[in-house]
Amino acid sequence: MAPVELHASLQDQVLSYIRNFPNSACDQSLLYGLALVGVVSVFSLTASFLRLLSTLTVCGGYKLTKFGPKGSWAVITGASDGLGKEFALQIAAKGFNVVLVSRTASKLQALASEISEKYKVETRTVAMDFAKNDDSDYARLAQEVNNLDVSILVNNVGKSHDIPVPFAETDLNEMKDIININCHGTLRVTSLVIPGMMERKRGLILTMGSFGGLFPTPLLATYSGSKAFLQQWSTALGSELAPYNIKTELVLSYLVTSAMSKIRKSSALIPNPKNFVKSTLGSIGAQRGAKRAGTNTPYWTHAVMHWAIESFVGIYSGVALNVNKGFHVDIRKRALRKREREAKKQ
Ligand SMILES: NC(=O)c1ccc[n+]([C@@H]2O[C@H](COP(=O)([O-])OP(=O)(O)OC[C@H]3O[C@@H](n4cnc5c(N)ncnc54)[C@H](OP(=O)(O)O)[C@@H]3O)[C@@H](O)[C@H]2O)c1
Repeated sequence: MAPVELHASLQDQVLSYIRNFPNSACDQSLLYGLALVGVVSVFSLTASFLRLLSTLTVCGGYKLTKFGPKGSWAVITGASDGLGKEFALQIAAKGFNVVLVSRTASKLQALASEISEKYKVETRTVAMDFAKNDDSDYARLAQEVNNLDVSILVNNVGKSHDIPVPFAETDLNEMKDIININCHGTLRVTSLVIPGMMERKRGLILTMGSFGGLFPTPLLATYSGSKAFLQQWSTALGSELAPYNIKTELVLSYLVTSAMSKIRKSSALIPNPKNFVKSTLGSIGAQRGAKRAGTNTPYWTHAVMHWAIESFVGIYSGVALNVNKGFHVDIRKRALRKREREAKKQ
């Protein structure tokens, strides 16, 4: 039989099978099976969308006073700028005293004065460089916080790559700083603060994650890995601390305007720190966007994006990985061109 005739006969057979479908008990079962899978998928997608809508509209989060009374203390790392500064301002505005921790003493003191004047709460400052991972810095921090009733910890300090860079070309110091600040810093500060929380049987630990850690992110591999580490650590820790009435939450974010993101203009997808932190403190425990326990994507456009990608594409899918790679390759090209222009000016 010629190939064209073979093709036509095969086509006839398929069409006849489809026309007569279902033509056996087996076909009938297949049909019911497919229909059932379809119904279950649509039902679960609809249920998860309705859940997302309810967390973004009617379901508020826990109030901060669930975790400690006004007048107790909040420790905020990376507190002198960006999201950390907003956490400090908004938590102090709710009547909590604040311990502000970051690198630059002058910035911390200016913020401490602003806070105590505006909100009439007590403040303490600790200037330390988390990149150094220095035992004596952690000893100074322990001295400051050990006798305080700390009810809230915001593990906010974080560092990303200066510009997107292939792992093979990543500077060793940048690599070490990211791990020291994002991982060691978060673990060491938390281990200073939790014994008191466990004794008092109450507390809240918010840790800043990132979409860069939620999705494997090529050209930010070290940052991506450090934030994924925090994701697992925070969720596991949350389960250990739940019997002590201590809540941990990993806070996920796409871009926010700040020195780190190098984005100045806010938009629907890129909020400013004030609006991002307002959403975070207004949705503690709501588990927006995320299907993972102990995780919250507080800002509404980020939550919708998180939900849509997890539901339709998959966080670890090749499609998500390739799109993310293309995005960061593009950012790297633009950053290198900018560097070149700046070098020529000098
Ligand atoms: N911005 C975003 O688009 C975005 C997106 C997702 C997740 N995040 C996460 O959100 C967190 C805050 O980011 P951000 O954008 O607000 O950052 P930012 O504006 O760059 O502020 C960083 C803060 O951390 C302090 N800091 C930096 N390096 C430090 C070090 N080695 N030791 C001690 N303090 C240090 C800075 O203090 P000094 O000023 O004294 O140096 C500053 O107060 C990070 O964990 C980040 O990964 C941000």
